[in-house]
Amino acid sequence: MVRKRGKTICVFSGKGGVGKTTTALNLAGLYKVLNKKVLIIDLDLYSGGIALALNKEPHKSVFDLSFDLENKKYKNFSDYTETYSEYIDFLAAPKDPRNANRVNPSLVSLIISNATYLYDMIIIDTHSVLDELNLLTLDIVDKILFVVTNDPFDIKNMKTLISIFKELEIDKYKLLLNNSRDPFKDYFSIYDLRSILNTNIDYTISQNMYLKDMENYVMNGKILTLEPKAASAFSKDYNTFMTIALDLMGSDNQNEE
Ligand SMILES: Nc1ncnc2c1ncn2[C@@H]1O[C@H](COP(=O)(O)OP(=O)(O)OP(=O)(O)O)[C@@H](O)[C@H]1O
Ligand SMILES: [Mg+2]
Repeated sequence: MVRKRGKTICVFSGKGGVGKTTTALNLAGLYKVLNKKVLIIDLDLYSGGIALALNKEPHKSVFDLSFDLENKKYKNFSDYTETYSEYIDFLAAPKDPRNANRVNPSLVSLIISNATYLYDMIIIDTHSVLDELNLLTLDIVDKILFVVTNDPFDIKNMKTLISIFKELEIDKYKLLLNNSRDPFKDYFSIYDLRSILNTNIDYTISQNMYLKDMENYVMNGKILTLEPKAASAFSKDYNTFMTIALDLMGSDNQNEE
């Protein structure tokens, strides 16, 4: 039987620190729950935190993969990925940030395409700059999840981002309002946000999901959505994350070969 190709998702924002990495990890956890084989690609090349958050020491990174592809040393995709658990692998950001700008952006399409032959879902974590690498990534992925908080600077940048996407007639994005990152910020109502951003807020993660002991998860390499109590402790937000995961996966589940 011919294997169906995986779906690609990029988590992006107009400003840093809004919860992209946390969201990418929570989605990876839910795809595992759905029995999907997941790869997280850490394209936050200068300061990626996926390996840290999963408490794994990576042997190779996106830089090694890019370097070997350019120098004809590449053999297997799996030589560059790390395993977190049976269902979740990741491709780490460069260990040395000086190698970040040595990753060839024009290879990102090949890297992502190779991953789609091996995984059901590929989740790409990024940094919030519209540089060449991110533009190419946003262009080729199946779906984009924008994350915004209720913070004026963040909202301003998201407004710009959405107007650029409208201008480019790209509508493959969904917008997540993340109230769990800054639970005390609620300057704008959903109604205000909708009219400021001139787009629909597709999902909201509530303040209930703010975790005082967030660092414990990071230090222990735990994914919140895989914790046995998560579904009951954060039932509404857990269900919202599940809805996001299913929406981004699409009804046909996977691309045809
Ligand atoms: N639900 C939450 N509860 C408590 N702290 C949170 C929550 N979500 C995110 N954080 C904290 O907020 C900070 C930013 O989150 P995260 O790293 O996911 O954002 P990011 O958008 O990936 O940031 P960057 O742009 O720097 O990569 C982190 O220190 C994280 O631990
Ligand atoms: Mg991040």
